[in-house]
Amino acid sequence: MKRILFALGLTALMVSCARKDWKDTSLPASERASLLLKEMTLEEKVGQMCQYVAPCYVPPGQGSPYKNIDATDENLGNKDLADKIRRGEVGSFLHCLTPKEATALQELAQESRLKVPLLIGIDAIHGNALIEGCTVYPTNINLASTFNPELLETIGAETAAEMRQRGLYWTFGPNLDVARDPRWGRMGETFGEDALLVSEMGKHEIWGLQGRDRDLSTHVLACAKHLIAGGEPFGGLNAAPMDVSEGKLREIYLPPFIAAIKEAGVGTVMAAHNEVNGIPCHGNKWLLQDLLRDEMGFDGFVVSDWMDIERLHSMHHWAPDSTEAFVRSVEAGIDMHMQGDNYFEAVVAAVNSGRIPEKRIDQAAGKILEMKFALGLFENPVPEIKTVIEGVGDHGKTALEAARQGLVLLKNDGILPLSSPRRLFVVGPNADSQTILGDWAVPQSDSAVVTVAEGIRDAFPSASIDTLCFGGKISNVDARTIAVARHKASAADVCIVVVGENSQRYSAFGRTCGENCDRDNLDLPGMQQQLLEAVCASGKPVVMILMTGRANSIEWAKDNVSAILNVWEPGQAGGQAIAEVLAGQVNPSGKLPVTMPRSVGQVQNVYNYKHSQYSRQFATSVSGCLFPFGYGLSYSKFSFSEPVLEAAEGDGYGTVSIEVRNDGPYDGGEVVQLYISQEYASVTRPVKELKAFKRIFLKNGESTTVKFEVTTDMLKCFGAGGKWSVEPGEYTLLTGNSSADEDLKSTTLTVK
Ligand code: GLC
Repeated sequence: MKRILFALGLTALMVSCARKDWKDTSLPASERASLLLKEMTLEEKVGQMCQYVAPCYVPPGQGSPYKNIDATDENLGNKDLADKIRRGEVGSFLHCLTPKEATALQELAQESRLKVPLLIGIDAIHGNALIEGCTVYPTNINLASTFNPELLETIGAETAAEMRQRGLYWTFGPNLDVARDPRWGRMGETFGEDALLVSEMGKHEIWGLQGRDRDLSTHVLACAKHLIAGGEPFGGLNAAPMDVSEGKLREIYLPPFIAAIKEAGVGTVMAAHNEVNGIPCHGNKWLLQDLLRDEMGFDGFVVSDWMDIERLHSMHHWAPDSTEAFVRSVEAGIDMHMQGDNYFEAVVAAVNSGRIPEKRIDQAAGKILEMKFALGLFENPVPEIKTVIEGVGDHGKTALEAARQGLVLLKNDGILPLSSPRRLFVVGPNADSQTILGDWAVPQSDSAVVTVAEGIRDAFPSASIDTLCFGGKISNVDARTIAVARHKASAADVCIVVVGENSQRYSAFGRTCGENCDRDNLDLPGMQQQLLEAVCASGKPVVMILMTGRANSIEWAKDNVSAILNVWEPGQAGGQAIAEVLAGQVNPSGKLPVTMPRSVGQVQNVYNYKHSQYSRQFATSVSGCLFPFGYGLSYSKFSFSEPVLEAAEGDGYGTVSIEVRNDGPYDGGEVVQLYISQEYASVTRPVKELKAFKRIFLKNGESTTVKFEVTTDMLKCFGAGGKWSVEPGEYTLLTGNSSADEDLKSTTLTVK
């Protein structure tokens, strides 16, 4: 009897193994991927690791968009693309800008032997804004100013819906760079200078994009980028080197990636352009394998940044040639190549020569296939395109609410909110242009964007409004037009000057900010300062609207204008939100996610500096920053009690509680911040570090109690022994509504 049972069991086992098929949708994605790998040739596996830029996306200035899939362009090297796809030698595309193209590319992939669908990615950094007709939310620096992570989850979910409905299943976001140098053009694309703020914003965005349980069948794949430490490149220039101690790497740059991986389960990571301590990230095995996978437990795949593997040779002068660069990147842990020819051949040859074990290819291709199965691409390879956004709520309303919460009032001598002005003069190159959308956005239809001038017209219907908007071009601000502005200003009751930077990626108007638009100074570009001074010379009250993707140095403005509203790049509804604040319909509540320096000479200028940073002062200027991290005014006054540390039961550290009251006169939002400092430890510590924050809303006269539990994570430091611990000693807990000492009250905690 036993023998019969054994035989039956064995048969059942053999049948079940034989029956397992990667087409079986009941199997987990990882198992389906392993089964499919077994049927693939080496070439087909390496093909999954190859990403190309979609033919219709031709970076500005590199020729006209392709008319068909087979077109080639010397600059992009995408020769015989259609045949490569049919041979299964392409696994992914990026920047597919039209649903028609996404469909055409996927149909080509269906002609390949195994019909493996393509994974199409795009930089949906603040909405799917590289596609016309999609919702353009405020840029990340503006969203960070809300200190409202929940908003990011909503925006992530809405963005995922708008992407999938256009055949796009992977975004190269969130950007988790910690931006600590405003000369760097990409500050506007980040969530600012603080690791906790960046971590919380990034984590929530990934939850929105991928779903909290990473249910990719109804969401999209996110990408934590750029690993690592590109946010304070030498000289402020994008991709420049980075030297960083392990302590600083672990305390400042790694936390956002740890949160993205361990708490949000991000499915992909993108390596950074720069080197870290002499080894370029794209060839850095310690970074991509030992740290990312072995220590942090990352279970997805790593994509290179644009042509950065070739740059191991051409830019870093680290690999002797591009073939060696390709091979080293695979050995280090890069799983997918963005973008172009020659990578495929080099990797296949390296496996055939025994330099790269095929197991490494199986690991890379297997992860990529697993994500494709999880996204449901095998069941629905050719996207069902919807041109009207369906079903995830009112995206425009989210964009407007996000814009409202992200506006930062830096100065107000009482002129705001404006009380029914009769004659307004709205002036400046950013007053009526789509630079309000920021970087990573294509021009949207004018009907979809509310500029500042349009918003003001709507909010002040009975005022007479004169404008001078320079056609949206900073270079049109010159001596002649400034004279006109000066004249017009004298006829107004109040002047609204809308100045700043231009981050428009596709604008012929002269970009000054955004990716690869780094600057060696932080002043208002062009003759905008002269424009501001001329308008102020009229003697009329001036409200400055700063529209920018970096922390500009605006010391003169702070001393000479009546009010300053830093709007960053508030997206498609920005003009409405700004006008609502000017009219008092919205009470501003945004807080700075970065320090604003007085001048570029102060850089590096961050809030969590070490005690020895200012042991000396500058000889001929003020050493402190212009506006501090976490700072932002309201039309209401909020008062904060002294923080009280309530002892914990058991071995916790206790809970700090603060009473906050809105003394009016308006209902309004406020951001309660908790900083912690430890003066004496085995390593020098920052004067303070943000360890918790909570956005609250209080009606006029209302009060509430905010409590923060003090945790190990808040107190620990990466000490002299090269390990994390909570070192004994006295800790100061500081609470308030900015990082400035004058806005904080404190209590102490002693750790035995
Ligand atoms: C760029 C950026 C990266 C982006 C990629 C694709 O080089 O560094 O953030 O995702 O190219 O556009």
